Amino acid sequence: MQCCPAFFRGRRFNLAAACLSVALLLSTASSAMAVPPGEISWTSLVAAAYRALGAKDPDPGTRNPDYLAGRLLDKDFLDKLLRLPEDYQAALAKYRQRGSSTFYYMTARTKYIDQVLIQEAMAGAEQVVILGAGLDSRAYRFQLQFPQVRFFEVDLPATQANKKQRVKAALGGLPVGVAYVAVDFDKDDLGQMLAKAGYRNDRRTLFIWEAVSYYLQEAGVRATLDFVAKQAKPGSSLVFDYLTQEALDRIKSGQSGQRGSAARARHGEPFTFGIKRGHVRDFLAKSGLVLVEELQARDMVGRFLISSTGQVLGLPSKSIHLVLVEIPSH
Ligand SMILES: C[S@@+](CC[C@H](N)C(=O)[O-])C[C@H]1O[C@@H](n2cnc3c(N)ncnc32)[C@H](O)[C@@H]1O
Repeated sequence: MQCCPAFFRGRRFNLAAACLSVALLLSTASSAMAVPPGEISWTSLVAAAYRALGAKDPDPGTRNPDYLAGRLLDKDFLDKLLRLPEDYQAALAKYRQRGSSTFYYMTARTKYIDQVLIQEAMAGAEQVVILGAGLDSRAYRFQLQFPQVRFFEVDLPATQANKKQRVKAALGGLPVGVAYVAVDFDKDDLGQMLAKAGYRNDRRTLFIWEAVSYYLQEAGVRATLDFVAKQAKPGSSLVFDYLTQEALDRIKSGQSGQRGSAARARHGEPFTFGIKRGHVRDFLAKSGLVLVEELQARDMVGRFLISSTGQVLGLPSKSIHLVLVEIPSH
């Protein structure tokens, strides 16, 4: 496999620079800094907490399929991370009072990416590379169903080390068939690290890049897309999500989302990147990638958020879109 020497070097995932620029833009983020060394990414815990809450939904029509999320978190995670009670109905009622939309988006996102994984594995994908894996549990939930698939979890060394401890405690050990690739995207060469871990660019692959692009600089987003375009076998796929530029501008100018924004900045993980509505196809084309489909909030409701009795669970955020991408012939 060819390496991409410039990949993830320099400014690509430069959280320090990202934090500095957001600190300048947000008065609430004056003490923003990168994720403290040795600590697990806070946003990865929060994302898993939303999934764990959604997995408690008694209705299979709207339940989040990530039944392992809660087992990878500390016992009091709902209170600690989302300030919600343990009981699902009580938590949902309290969440609704807040008028937020993240929880519904998270449920739609998990269901969509799971669906893509199942489709790809059934169509012959042999590798799943999870970029910025956090507490993603797909390797453990899908390994038995698709034993031919090798999973690669890529993340910062500290977040990954912490996650491995959690997986050992929850599952009794680290499963074979999962390669853990500790990568600091600021310093390391992802292509080289993946190759060392056994990644093959002659095998059909699904890349999952969930809840990561909006924490990067544009150069980092472009480098990731270029890497996938050049290092994946044609016919492979990428699924990811992006924040709209319009929403990012509203957050930066203080018009919306200030509480969440301040919390992310405090933990060294501010939003830094967005794509203008209606421009994702062109944005992908610059890397030679082909847009297969884009899901906005209204699409997610119809596909993933209708209960068994026909009720809408809730309206997901309009600020984040889900995207499926095909890697064409080089
Ligand atoms: C919001 S979390 C998403 C985690 C997971 N994909 C999910 O959806 O639950 C962002 C992830 O990107 C990872 N990340 C951020 N900066 C990174 C860097 N410089 N190198 C490697 N991983 C990074 C974090 O460690 C974290 O796991």
